[in-house]
Amino acid sequence: MPDKEFVAADLKTTAESGSVSWEAPSNIALVKYWGKKENQIPANPSVSFTLKNCKTTTTLNYVKVSEDTSISEEIEFDVIFEGVKKESFKPKIAAFFKRILPYCAYLKQFKFEVVSENSFPHSSGIASSASGMSALALCVMSLEKELFPEVTEDYFYKKASFLARLGSGSACRSVKGDLVVWGAHKEIPFSSDEYGIEYPFKIADVFKDFQDTILLVDKGKKKVSSTVGHNLMHGHPFAEARFKQAHDHLNALIPIFEKGDLEQFIKIVEREALTLHGMMMSSDPYFLLMKPNTLAIINKIWEKREESNIPVCFTLDAGANVHMLYPSKNKEEILEFVKNELVVYCENGHYICDEIGQGSKKL
Ligand code: PMV
Repeated sequence: MPDKEFVAADLKTTAESGSVSWEAPSNIALVKYWGKKENQIPANPSVSFTLKNCKTTTTLNYVKVSEDTSISEEIEFDVIFEGVKKESFKPKIAAFFKRILPYCAYLKQFKFEVVSENSFPHSSGIASSASGMSALALCVMSLEKELFPEVTEDYFYKKASFLARLGSGSACRSVKGDLVVWGAHKEIPFSSDEYGIEYPFKIADVFKDFQDTILLVDKGKKKVSSTVGHNLMHGHPFAEARFKQAHDHLNALIPIFEKGDLEQFIKIVEREALTLHGMMMSSDPYFLLMKPNTLAIINKIWEKREESNIPVCFTLDAGANVHMLYPSKNKEEILEFVKNELVVYCENGHYICDEIGQGSKKL
């Protein structure tokens, strides 16, 4: 049964054709989402930093083909990615359209062209599903707003995050805000399993321009997809303890965000990253996404922190690349460290300098 709050009413006004564009960023989770229930409902709450430079820009061109929203279950569309027609991207977008149809029946009246590009190289090992699905969900909501002008701003962003979640779970954290919580948590009012919300409490200034340098250890396609990984949490011997730990970590982060307690921040963020990979290593079947260079970089970061006292730490997503997090005042010294000691571990010496951003933007 669709969640009633997000089912669009019958169409009152019509648009014949048009075009909407959004850019949406990627995000990096501090408390990780790993394990899900049906319909992309997370097994535990998560919180992420929204990024600034790693983003997807999407234009949705639409043309009306029918007045009738009851005939077809299929949405007709083409995908153009970075200037080239991409048949291989179609199944994922078709699955997304299919999942959101119960909430956006008006889509059936149109034929679409999805024109998209990423600011980061496609084959960089940076997941583009979060930024890609959120940009597309926002475009769908802009169309909905044209058809139903009474849609409020609050509903617009809430439903955009809700739709993005149906495309890729973590995408719901790429719509709005610098720090975003997704998943119901008892200490965070209005937190929801259905969509991401802007973190509602105080955040110390040090976090407002936190840096994320992404060290690209392996730019290839992951051997195990996150869909498979999430599913392996069903029946995982440590699942319940892990889900509880995520709740506890989010709870512990509240005073840490407020006070800017970097020492405690580092402990939680690194433990989260290693627990995520620990879950992978103890799944049945087990798998390993870290590479020797991932570990080499982690050890180097630890050495650097010890010797310099700079509060630099790492986190990982479901892959071999390392996100190195640190305050902006240490940027110069850390980028020297990257050039002198870390690029050797990066594939073709490649890394991406990013920082906390403010969410999506209508173009
Ligand atoms: O959104 P998905 O299904 O690609 O899963 C993302 C999982 C992690 O990146 C590992 C963690 C997270 O919370 O983003």
